[in-house]
Amino acid sequence: MYSKITGTGSYLPDRILTNAELESMVDTSDEWIRSRTGIEKRHIAADDQTTCDLAEKAALSAIKAAGINASDIDLIIIATTTPDLVFPSTACLIQERLDIHGCPCFDVQAVCTGFIYAMSIAEKFISSNSSTCALVIGAETLSRIINWKDRNTSVLFGDGAGAVILQASETQGILSSHLHADGQYANLLNVPAGISSNHEMIKADKAFITMQGNEVFKVAVNTLGRIVDETLTANSIKKEEIDWLVPHQANMRIISATAKKLDMSMERVIVTVDQHGNTSAASVPLALDVAVRDGRIKVGDTILLEAFGGGFTWGSVLLRY
Ligand code: ACO
Repeated sequence: MYSKITGTGSYLPDRILTNAELESMVDTSDEWIRSRTGIEKRHIAADDQTTCDLAEKAALSAIKAAGINASDIDLIIIATTTPDLVFPSTACLIQERLDIHGCPCFDVQAVCTGFIYAMSIAEKFISSNSSTCALVIGAETLSRIINWKDRNTSVLFGDGAGAVILQASETQGILSSHLHADGQYANLLNVPAGISSNHEMIKADKAFITMQGNEVFKVAVNTLGRIVDETLTANSIKKEEIDWLVPHQANMRIISATAKKLDMSMERVIVTVDQHGNTSAASVPLALDVAVRDGRIKVGDTILLEAFGGGFTWGSVLLRY
């Protein structure tokens, strides 16, 4: 059995934080942020809004687009680095919100590559006849782990959620998925605290993203180039057969480098990073939903999804929409 996306959805919180506002918070400028990253603004969850709240709105939108009932869903996977609770998983919280009970639900933690991991896992559930209708979500409230006084990170990230319904199909949808990780780079991008280590940083409200941006940038560009080659080779397809690239929305310069590797004009690359910054696991499904809803991505198009993030983790999904 194949897996096909039958509906997409996304949600961005109402509160917008512009580059101009950031100028009054840290030593930065709109010009620096735009030229180095392409980001114009980011959305920030309200104080009482959680990752589950954002995920729920994206999920309801994807369910509606797919024309299914929530009761049809028999698997829920949420990719998130910023879950509501240590446990239960945010996927269990969503299941309760949707008032469906009994199906497997779990969170996936692969930072910015989380949604690619989650899609790949859902596809394997469907191809092994363990599920027929999966709700796959990427959702983050990264604003909760940002040091708003650190200009190296505060200008880059934002909150949001994206979701897809992935259903069993007799025609091909997902053509292949490719997942990787290399823990030797953990120190280049991390939040150096958790439940079982450096817990005092959490208690002191000092558990924030730290990053060596330059190094991350170099590895990201090289690695994404390799995952493109791996995906094309695995499917014996040529670069020009890909209709749309839906990349992780981290940085315009990283996105352009991947497009160049594919000899792809930027008209065929879905870019939303300018509108919401890096939303980690939410970024790929957010961009996908925008392009489906504005009519660029059409049924039958061949689409390459790719992402790179903390871990490092990286991966791709090639699919026929
Ligand atoms: N505003 C103004 N100036 C700044 C800022 C800022 N927000 N941040 C750094 N600078 C300064 C630096 O201090 C430095 O000044 P100096 O030349 O006087 O020393 C100068 O700008 C250049 O700094 P670099 O770090 O070399 O800037 P770079 O061109 O590498 O851009 C950036 C930085 C945007 C972080 C880039 O390295 C990047 O995008 N890296 C990838 C990071 C990323 O996307 N991480 C997310 C997770 S992984 C992923 O999703 C791919």
